[in-house]
Amino acid sequence: MSVRSEPYIFGIESSCDECSASVVRLSKDQRRVDVLSVATFSQIQIHAPYGGVVPEIASRNHLETINSMIESALQQAAIRADDIDAIAVTQRPGLVGALLVGVTAAKTMAFALNKPLVPVHHLEGHLSSLFLNRDEPAISQLPLLAAVISGGHTNLYVVREEPKRWPKQFLSEALVGKSRDDAAGEAFDKTAKLMGFPYPGGVWIDRTAQQKGNPKAFDFPRALPQKDILDFSFSGLKTAVALALKKIPADELRDQLPHLCASTQEAIVDAILRKMKLAVQRYRCRSVAIVGGVAANSRLRSRLAEEWKSWGIESPPSFPFPEFCTDNAAMIAAAGAFRFGQGHFFTGKEMLSIAARASATD
Ligand code: KG4
Ligand code: ZN
Repeated sequence: MSVRSEPYIFGIESSCDECSASVVRLSKDQRRVDVLSVATFSQIQIHAPYGGVVPEIASRNHLETINSMIESALQQAAIRADDIDAIAVTQRPGLVGALLVGVTAAKTMAFALNKPLVPVHHLEGHLSSLFLNRDEPAISQLPLLAAVISGGHTNLYVVREEPKRWPKQFLSEALVGKSRDDAAGEAFDKTAKLMGFPYPGGVWIDRTAQQKGNPKAFDFPRALPQKDILDFSFSGLKTAVALALKKIPADELRDQLPHLCASTQEAIVDAILRKMKLAVQRYRCRSVAIVGGVAANSRLRSRLAEEWKSWGIESPPSFPFPEFCTDNAAMIAAAGAFRFGQGHFFTGKEMLSIAARASATD
């Protein structure tokens, strides 16, 4: 099968609590992805009363919304379904029931339209979000140290190739550090819950810390300080915040909250930046990028903006545009576009046997 020079890729994302569909177009040089449409329904309000994502509710809701997201993405992009060159879908990792809804919808579309299917790893999607709607290529200098920092992952990758040359085993070959317990976003969400904020709490901690919160007010632990370890551990932070909260008299909590938020945020941001710097130096990276929901954090961005020059890298850090930091189908379509360009896709019977997978690897 020959691949059109600027293919249209349809993407579907349903791995957690965002139900999203999108149409993108890959540029001729395969370094830029233009977003023609994105339709996303966020289930945040539905899960908020439970303080976290309820898997069964998530899958049912995906089932109710996915068709309208698909229709709306096609309409906004103003293209006919038949103009699509391939269908990309998040295959893994995530909540298996939620993934199943997206994978089944994608397979049905691929079968009905007689188009190839590209199964996508969610984290490859986050990394690909760097290329969405960019005038300048996001990866200018390789190797790049890319941090995927989300509600489910805190992974450091050394990226040595442009996406059009990412090998099949790219994610496992490029991984140099990860969290041994909670992800950074999970640490934000769990500590925020202890402080009484709604789910997901990351953005609340960020906003409250901006109310003149002192990042040094509470001395929270920075785990795994050893210089030869590139892994993270955030589970101890939750206990430390719980203990600090117990010691604050009820009538002082309101005044202390900005300081508590700023100090919690500082412990997470410190750990992320410290390990990123170590990885940059160990692997002689020439640029850095942060993707995933936590990439929206204002303190992480401002500290990295201050510090990157002292890391010995040559260009300012890259972030995806804010609308592509949290889960969305455009990033999945982008990763699918790069894979499609390399001929990594499925058709016919082989395509029908693609299954949703909860785990990140086999
Ligand atoms: O990438 P994402 O949408 O979903 C996953 O794949 O997990 O990331 C969601 C995570 C949540 O933990 C949320 O609290 C966090 O990103 N987050 C933030 C901010 N905005 C979203 N964390 C800290 N500061 C923010 N401004
Ligand atoms: Zn994600």
